[in-house]
Amino acid sequence: MLDIKIERTTTPKEKPADETKLGFGHIFTDHMFVMNYDAGQGWHDARIVPYGDLSLSPAAMCLHYGQEIFEGLKAYRTADGSVQLFRPQENFKRMNNSAERMVIPKINEEDMLYALKTLVKMEQDWVPHTEGASLYIRPFIIAVDPYVGVKPADHYLFIIILSPSGAYYSTGLNPVKIYVENKYVRAVRGGTGFAKTAANYAISLAGQEEAHEQDYEQVLWLDGVERKYVEEVGSMNIFFVIDGEVVTPQLLGSVLPGITRKSAIEICKKKGYKVSERKISIEEIAEAYDNGKLDEVFGTGTAAVISPVGHLKWGDKVMEINNNKIGPVSQMLYDTMTGIQWGKIPDEFGWIVKI
Ligand code: COI
Repeated sequence: MLDIKIERTTTPKEKPADETKLGFGHIFTDHMFVMNYDAGQGWHDARIVPYGDLSLSPAAMCLHYGQEIFEGLKAYRTADGSVQLFRPQENFKRMNNSAERMVIPKINEEDMLYALKTLVKMEQDWVPHTEGASLYIRPFIIAVDPYVGVKPADHYLFIIILSPSGAYYSTGLNPVKIYVENKYVRAVRGGTGFAKTAANYAISLAGQEEAHEQDYEQVLWLDGVERKYVEEVGSMNIFFVIDGEVVTPQLLGSVLPGITRKSAIEICKKKGYKVSERKISIEEIAEAYDNGKLDEVFGTGTAAVISPVGHLKWGDKVMEINNNKIGPVSQMLYDTMTGIQWGKIPDEFGWIVKI
């Protein structure tokens, strides 16, 4: 078992007074988990310390070449006041897959889970009590060697920070507007699209800014080679319900393997829906829309949960989905997923880990 040293803050912060106004990712708790890696020594010095700024060399390699990976998951408060996590093992498995792609040393997955549980237990009073709000968890690893040559680092920090948060989109469960990006690309096969690494998000910003200027929340990325097949939104995976069939792009290396995506597929299958993970072109979606067969579009993500898409724009074509209302599959997934996460319905899948 990981030996974690604990240093408590002497200046605990006020908890947010109004949990309906948390927003997403602005507020951080009193403590964070930190562990060092040094080549030859491995991961060591696991500790929980007061949340605060890091001291890094201006030459730290993560600042120059982006050798960084991260995860996102949440802790939920149930009606009986207890706190629970949703499939955290999946996050740490994915973190090690991202580590491999970014040449970052892996961490024992049980150690990461133990570190997270210990931190969340210590910070459990920060887990919101309000419906729809939760404690967003951000584990990440950065390369810290002071060196401006390009090579894998020899020194890293693994850190977990916690942020009481509400909905990711200010629209909440109201449908979002997205458009099909036709200028930039996010990822190509063989690249880093499947890894949760900073670069994938940095390169999405220009497209996102242009989308905001047109009053759209996000962009829908097409494949980076043919610019034909739908991939993902960046902050969420994407699903379509076409003539009753639930369809989502298959994982071919350029799409993030979302844990909410995987869970949505498992729930839909269990409920008897036909689910296909396959290549899906934007032409096929437009055609389904024209034929009245595009029943629903929604995104899935830890932060985004289940986000219905009300408007999908492709060039000059604006598709209004399900009269800009949440559809039955999205609603069922939202209710089932959040029901399990907040402990309101039985967890028949065995996804919940109690703190
Ligand atoms: C998450 O859903 O946890 C993510 O990491 C996506 C990010 C855009 C907030």
